[in-house]
Amino acid sequence: MGIKTLGIIGAGQMGHGIAQTAAHAGSLNVILYDISENLLRKGLDNIAKNLERLVDKGKLTPDEKQVCLDRIQVTTELPSMSAADFVVEAVVEIENVKIDLFRKLDEICRPDTVLASNTSSISITRMGAATQRPGKVIGMHFFYPVPVMGIVEIIRGLATSSPTFYLTKELTLKFGKTPVESKDFPGFISNRILMPMINEAVYALYEGVGTAHAIDQVMVLGMRHPMGPLALADFIGLDTCLSILNVLYRGFGDSKYRPCPLLKQYVDAGYLGRKTGRGFYEYGPDGTMIKPPQ
Ligand code: CAA
Repeated sequence: MGIKTLGIIGAGQMGHGIAQTAAHAGSLNVILYDISENLLRKGLDNIAKNLERLVDKGKLTPDEKQVCLDRIQVTTELPSMSAADFVVEAVVEIENVKIDLFRKLDEICRPDTVLASNTSSISITRMGAATQRPGKVIGMHFFYPVPVMGIVEIIRGLATSSPTFYLTKELTLKFGKTPVESKDFPGFISNRILMPMINEAVYALYEGVGTAHAIDQVMVLGMRHPMGPLALADFIGLDTCLSILNVLYRGFGDSKYRPCPLLKQYVDAGYLGRKTGRGFYEYGPDGTMIKPPQ
């Protein structure tokens, strides 16, 4: 595989996780871009903390941790992506923002560079069509938290070439993750199934069927899910859940994907989940959930 340097756009919760995985499991050099220096600093701090946990557990030596950190270069200059062999975009889930970014990357990056999107739901075909290299545009959808979750959904747009698909599959395997192919339909496989479940849990709360804690307990203890759907929505971000549901609702034109009014209201209020300290639950400054009354 010819990929030595991975470009990552966005140092938020997905971007910095992808950077850690690429530098650690993938042994790649990483150029991590964000418009915000603050987010770059926070992203690097999180990576250092996660790697330190691995050192504490004896899974990594302090020297290996340092080698990983040294592989990651941060920048606020998008033209730095001209040095990348493969770029993964992990910015907000807003179509216009992504399309605009793909246009810019298409001008900056070498013609042989693959442009991948970590979108959870938006059309890869449309992102490809915004560039002069639709054959080299692909979906590479990681799961949160990236270093822990062992799967990547790979989405071929209508024009994505087979060499691009196989290169992305190879990169996924290098990261120690299982590649799964999905067709380019709204929400792909993962969010077509996950988001209606989360939305239904919000409707159950809205209609007073049970408390948030009761709804989550049924799914954790009754269905052995690692987290209940409302805690998971807080973990993902309620704004992200709402954006994905809107893509499903508009994309299929089917009322079964209609976002629950309560979800919209929470997002309007700025209750975005763990990242803002409040969603369906409340969180302390370190992100740990303040346990609701039983
Ligand atoms: N970064 C790196 N590592 C992390 C981490 C993070 N943010 N959070 C936890 N870990 C690691 C811990 O270090 C620990 O590692 P070891 O097993 O080596 O000790 C391991 O994960 C388990 O963590 P904890 O013991 O602290 O906590 P836990 O057992 O409760 O697990 C969890 C936490 C892994 C998040 C688990 O609750 C879980 O799997 N939840 C479901 C997550 C999920 O569904 N993710 C997908 C979201 S959907 C998505 O991403 C797609 C989309 O488009 C919206």
